[in-house]
Amino acid sequence: MFKQYKEAIECSNIVSKTDINGIITFVNDEFCKISGYSREELIGQNHNIVRHPDVPKSQFKKLWDTILSKRTFKATVKNRAKNGSTFYVNTTIVPILDEKGEITEFMAIRYDVTKEVELKLALEKKERELAQLNKTLEERVKMQTQKLYNLNKHLEERIREEVKKNEEKQKMLFLQSRMASLGQMMANIAHQWRQPLTELALTLFNLKKAAYHNDLEKVDLVYNDAKSMIQNMSQTIEDFINFFKPDKPKVPFPLTQSLEEALQIASKSLKKEYISINISADSDLYVIGVTNELSQVLINLLQNAKDAFTQHPHHQKKVVDIKIYQKDDHAYIEVQDNAGGIDNDIIERIFEPYFTTKHASKGTGLGLFMSKLIIEKSFGGTITACNQDEGACFTITLPLHTSSTKDLS
Ligand SMILES: Nc1ncnc2c1ncn2[C@@H]1O[C@H](COP(=O)(O)OP(=O)(O)OP(=O)(O)O)[C@@H](O)[C@H]1O
Ligand SMILES: [Mg+2]
Repeated sequence: MFKQYKEAIECSNIVSKTDINGIITFVNDEFCKISGYSREELIGQNHNIVRHPDVPKSQFKKLWDTILSKRTFKATVKNRAKNGSTFYVNTTIVPILDEKGEITEFMAIRYDVTKEVELKLALEKKERELAQLNKTLEERVKMQTQKLYNLNKHLEERIREEVKKNEEKQKMLFLQSRMASLGQMMANIAHQWRQPLTELALTLFNLKKAAYHNDLEKVDLVYNDAKSMIQNMSQTIEDFINFFKPDKPKVPFPLTQSLEEALQIASKSLKKEYISINISADSDLYVIGVTNELSQVLINLLQNAKDAFTQHPHHQKKVVDIKIYQKDDHAYIEVQDNAGGIDNDIIERIFEPYFTTKHASKGTGLGLFMSKLIIEKSFGGTITACNQDEGACFTITLPLHTSSTKDLS
């Protein structure tokens, strides 16, 4: 029975025996196989022949302390074979006692766990690598995030700068176009004054004549005529000054008010060119904004129409149609002329600043740009151009101020 056990153990395990000093007295085939030594080389040698230099002394001290105090020692031990290779064995060392309870020898039973340990070590190594990778990954992500953040900040700054530059440019353009409109206004004033000034000169001459003839009645008459002429001229200036007052509050006003203002300023020069104006306007349509700004847009459109007629002098009957009406919840203003229209090659560009087909003395190319700016920024509306009925048609849409329409109707 005991022999069978012994055989079973020796077949399946690595078995060795040493005397009390650790000198090998027995090894089985398995021991020889795993250590690479022959039985002859092993017997009589100290068991530390298979000791691996990596294993710390303390482990052997523990081993000896355990077995010398007659207890069983169990551990996974790293050993070195004859050829220098490493093997791991799960080791159990049992002290064998005699009848008196004294240690006679030690028996060691081991089994090979090299593969498992190596796998475990490889796994641990991979885990360490992974952890390291993770750490570097975290650092790289952090670095990239920082880079992105910096880029973002830089971009934000650049955008802010660009926006500021753009705002300044817009302001400049706005000012320039104001100046241009001012120039246009001066031309209009000059034009509106030329006629009454000639008349005034004539009236003064008549006054002098009546005075010479002592015709007091005539003097009175002519004097009153002159006075009303001067009043008219002064009114013209008044109109223009009001027109250019800045920062006026936004209030609801009827579209026809702007139209009247525009006509008051522009119609005389249109009439001089024999341009007739047809108006069909719904007077109940209110929008919110500054009435003069919309008048300025209409004056620009009328001025452009007048210039277009001058460029096509062979035209028979010159007509500008102005329509103001409501569609859905928007007010529409249409200004249509029959002066030949806008060239299809340039129609896309007419709202660009400084785009003009006119001689430098006649146009700056800011009129429509300025008009678009006013319609979009001040009124939240749109302005578009197209060619129809032998001429150009400009369409303005404006959000209606509905409550005031109700209030005031
Ligand atoms: N009613 C129109 N008929 C034909 N062409 C037009 C008409 N209105 C505008 N245009 C074209 O659009 C261009 C741009 O018009 P815009 O009012 O912006 O500038 P401008 O009239 O040339 O100069 P400014 O108005 O600054 O004195 C004009 O030069 C002209 O070629
Ligand atoms: Mg113009």
